[in-house]
Amino acid sequence: MNPSSTDPILKKHWPYRPVMDSGMESPWLWLGTWSMGGEGFGKSDAHEAEAVLNRAFEQGVRHFDTAGLYAHGRSEELLARALAKKRPNVFLSSKGGLVWHGNQVKHRATREDLSVQLQASLKRLRTDYLDLYQLHWPDPAVPIEESLDALADFQKRGLVRHWGVGNFDSSRVARFFPEGAFVPHQFHFNPIHQNREVLAAGKTGQRCCGCAYSPLEQGLLGDSPGGFGVRKFGSRDLRNRNRYFSSQQVGRWLLELDGLARETAMSRVTLTLLWILASGLEAVIPGPRTLVQLEKTLEHRAWISRLGPEWPVKLRQYVGPELWEHLEKGPGIVQRESADEKIGDDRL
Ligand SMILES: NC(=O)c1ccc[n+]([C@@H]2O[C@H](COP(=O)([O-])OP(=O)(O)OC[C@H]3O[C@@H](n4cnc5c(N)ncnc54)[C@H](OP(=O)(O)O)[C@@H]3O)[C@@H](O)[C@H]2O)c1
Repeated sequence: MNPSSTDPILKKHWPYRPVMDSGMESPWLWLGTWSMGGEGFGKSDAHEAEAVLNRAFEQGVRHFDTAGLYAHGRSEELLARALAKKRPNVFLSSKGGLVWHGNQVKHRATREDLSVQLQASLKRLRTDYLDLYQLHWPDPAVPIEESLDALADFQKRGLVRHWGVGNFDSSRVARFFPEGAFVPHQFHFNPIHQNREVLAAGKTGQRCCGCAYSPLEQGLLGDSPGGFGVRKFGSRDLRNRNRYFSSQQVGRWLLELDGLARETAMSRVTLTLLWILASGLEAVIPGPRTLVQLEKTLEHRAWISRLGPEWPVKLRQYVGPELWEHLEKGPGIVQRESADEKIGDDRL
């Protein structure tokens, strides 16, 4: 195995802390395209999704994340359309290892499976290389070594510049990645769903570059009505399977959060994104679907500039100990480590 991420270029792409006062650069901010693909997140507007991607680029976002799985490949196609002329200037990451089988999601991460999926992603993305290709989820039927070797082989062949993983539990992080490897690792992390053990395992000896996905818990932590836990989704909306949306415990915690945050001038989105970054994650991957949501998502950058180089410390002081503690504690729902025999993400 050859951990790709010891490559200094990759480290340069993900400086641990934001570049201050650069105005435009935000390497810690990756834009996710799962919910933009037009499947599973209610009514969608392909034109607006494309406008979101273009506006994000104008605003200095350079890292766009997708997966062959998302919307049966349509998220990748959307990215290809929106970023066609910008390809050399963007960092494109996709994933393999999960596929659709009828209306079910299945693990498929043998060497051959990943190779077929990578070729399909390259075709949909209309590119001959990816900047980052990630094992979406460990396949319980395939030795992880085989999946990782396949990724390393893609890298040797120039099909991908870097490789990474997703949804490893803490023991796998410690077992598969040596100290200093700094392998990009996407995992579910936000104040409601705190994967502290995984974060700690990756940070110990810089084994992983921690990338928080679903930072707004699919909109529950957003400012739209969905953020108040009372929203009714259409029957095909995958958020019907997200237990946090129907949890009274989470609903109460959110109400308290809003009460405590009233004294600050920060939106819930800004507060959440900054709290995640201040918790030690290297990257955060929100999925705004509209231009308004994108603007709200980007607002946190101005706060970083305003709070200055010591912003994580200043942030704590600004929000005060009670609000900070509320975020740190979260609603206190016990999290399961991913179950091997099924896709650990209940939301799929
Ligand atoms: N590696 C993995 O296994 C994995 C798993 C999940 C996600 N990911 C990556 O992470 C990305 C983000 O995940 P996610 O879509 O769950 O992220 P998210 O940002 O937590 O949720 C996206 C949803 O939140 C709402 N939203 C987004 N920005 C908002 C804003 N500024 N204000 C109010 N509401 C806002 C929208 O809800 P409405 O639709 O209701 O408007 C949107 O559909 C994905 O696109 C994907 O790239 C990776």
